Amino acid sequence: MTRIAIFISGGGSNMVSLVDAMQSGEIDAEPVLVLANTADAGGLVKAQARGVATEVVDHRKYSDRASFEAEITRILSEYVPDVICLAGFMRVLTGEFTAKWEGRMLNIHPSLLPNYKGLNTHQRALDAGDAEAGVSVHLVTAELDDGPILGQRRVPVLPEDTAESLAARVLIEEHKLYPDVLRDFVKTL
Ligand code: GRF
Repeated sequence: MTRIAIFISGGGSNMVSLVDAMQSGEIDAEPVLVLANTADAGGLVKAQARGVATEVVDHRKYSDRASFEAEITRILSEYVPDVICLAGFMRVLTGEFTAKWEGRMLNIHPSLLPNYKGLNTHQRALDAGDAEAGVSVHLVTAELDDGPILGQRRVPVLPEDTAESLAARVLIEEHKLYPDVLRDFVKTL
């Protein structure tokens, strides 16, 4: 069965939707690891409550990205995932790491890529007066938020929207899109 590692930095709501979809059999894959770059990532407890192994590699303990990623790679060699899903993972990965996982690492980004790569995507959509916002799942390449898009969902921008209200509505769609995309993706392996 396809082995999935999920990287998180925060609450891990996207991780939860992926783990639940795998554990319910909706996705023909198993979550073998949830890795966080900080011990206070709220998603760690949620993963443990679901019986999924967790590891923390605190980026602040490493002098550079290469040594941080070397530790991640060492840990991955213990869990041997086939696919990595970045889910609210807030660290930029080097080209060396992304090259190693090219074609087998996915990311979820809260915008309709190629629009609004990077941060503060919802505020930028509001500032631009966009009628629509949304979320994308894409394959990860060396360039940030730039790889082949595997799926998208659109969300209307409402007149009274703030970045927070829009983010909350997009998040609902994220929790549907990522499992849908991963389910189809693992069938291609
Ligand atoms: C989500 O908006 C996701 O798109 C972004 O990080 C936010 C938090 O994700 N990458 P999660 O609740 O930690 O999955």
